[in-house]
Amino acid sequence: MKFAQYPSLDNRHVLVTGGGSGIGASHVEQFYRQGARVVFIERDEAAARSLLDKLDEQGRTKPVFLHADLRDIEVIQAVIADHCATCGDIDVLVNNAAHDERHELDSVSVEYWDERIALNLRHLFFCTQSVVPGMVRRGGGSVVNVGSFSWRVGLGGMPIYTAAKAGIEGLTRGLARDLGQQGIRVNTLVPGWVMTKRQLELWVTEEGKAEIQRRQCLEELVMPDDIARMALWLASDDSRMCTSQSFVVDGGWS
Ligand SMILES: NC(=O)c1ccc[n+]([C@@H]2O[C@H](COP(=O)([O-])OP(=O)(O)OC[C@H]3O[C@@H](n4cnc5c(N)ncnc54)[C@H](O)[C@@H]3O)[C@@H](O)[C@H]2O)c1
Repeated sequence: MKFAQYPSLDNRHVLVTGGGSGIGASHVEQFYRQGARVVFIERDEAAARSLLDKLDEQGRTKPVFLHADLRDIEVIQAVIADHCATCGDIDVLVNNAAHDERHELDSVSVEYWDERIALNLRHLFFCTQSVVPGMVRRGGGSVVNVGSFSWRVGLGGMPIYTAAKAGIEGLTRGLARDLGQQGIRVNTLVPGWVMTKRQLELWVTEEGKAEIQRRQCLEELVMPDDIARMALWLASDDSRMCTSQSFVVDGGWS
């Protein structure tokens, strides 16, 4: 297969959250291969370092790794401000990080609820807040919020995660309305069941694969690069009149 190269992404300054592994690592790699200047926030240092070792093509700007936990908003605000002071304003924000830990209704405490919302929803707002003044200075920008098909198809076993993911689509629509006048576009990228290392290790059993065959229209599995390629398009000038929308990449499941 042959995929697009976007001239508008060349040298674009792209911030990815949770970029050390899974779909986030695909975002980092795909933007890097487009010639973008990529920076990513990640709490897993080992994963981030091994990704960086892989991305060392001559003539390309190596991504910048910022080691931080997205649950700590004050730290995140400081880390983004420091980075922008040195490397310039951000053009594209991919709010990717999340964690789909399963939980039972009875076992959820107030602390656990708050922690899951902090991990799956809160940082998307505050990362956006941190980069918007720079996007305004640059004359516009693109924010890509990574949602999930899970709440749309009614998956159980993780109601806080699905509530947060539904909330992301509301956040997108509210921010798109508020930021459109400044040339900033905000969209939700909705993945289906994506074959990351973590999903393959934890959940993709033979039964899981049979479920995919039953539910998707397309037979092939959805891979992390399939999600990242939609982020490329949403970040590029090619999608210049798209904002406040949800773009689903799920092989036709939902
Ligand atoms: N994989 C799927 O099937 C699937 C389906 C629907 C939606 N999604 C969404 O796609 C996005 C990426 O998912 P994934 O499957 O690649 O997840 P993953 O768990 O494989 O990777 C998430 C990355 O984010 C990092 N991260 C998590 N919490 C962090 C924190 N507090 N601070 C800093 N870094 C943190 C992790 O260390 C990891 O590198 C998420 O928003 C997820 O909800 C994934």
